[in-house]
Amino acid sequence: MRVGVYPGTFDPITNGHLDIIERALNIFDKVVVAIAIDNMKNSFFTIEERVSLLEEVLKPYGDKIEVDVFSGLSINYIKEKNSNVLIRGLRALSDFEYEYQLSHMNKSLDKSVETMFLMTSVQYAFVSSSLIKQIISLGGELKDFLPTVVEEKIKEKFKESI
Ligand code: COA
Repeated sequence: MRVGVYPGTFDPITNGHLDIIERALNIFDKVVVAIAIDNMKNSFFTIEERVSLLEEVLKPYGDKIEVDVFSGLSINYIKEKNSNVLIRGLRALSDFEYEYQLSHMNKSLDKSVETMFLMTSVQYAFVSSSLIKQIISLGGELKDFLPTVVEEKIKEKFKESI
């Protein structure tokens, strides 16, 4: 069984991530969507909230998807999942430099690991979780970029924080 691992922060999952996951499912028998907890980002949603949103949004794909959380290096984690492929989405040119660095660093840590890049679909090329949270917090509507459940949860969380 071909397993691909899609690591990220997913704070929260957007339609841009979903687009990458759906396309990865055409290549792999199973995709593990894994929240990295050691990437030094300040998160808006807790790990539990992010897992629960991922599980809800990815429920329609059944057991072809596994939602998980990992700490430590992604190259070690993917082996635990019987995979050697890290899936990453590339948006604009600005992603390239960072992804180039990550993939080469991972390769130098473990030669057997491959990073597979999928070009983000053009309608999501300028989407990011931070931008979405900022726009919603300022009263903007962004239905095309987010699963409804995620949009509701962001609004709810902002209300709680007022
Ligand atoms: N559509 C829309 N947005 C996308 C996207 C897509 N297809 N792909 C990425 N993004 C956005 C995300 O929303 C996120 O936005 P934000 O910065 O506003 O939150 C941003 O792009 C990058 O997010 P993500 O893909 O989650 O990457 P990351 O930089 O947060 O995390 C890891 C990268 C998890 C792969 C990396 O930190 C890692 O491997 N960590 C484990 C520790 C490790 O092994 N370190 C050594 C690495 S060499």
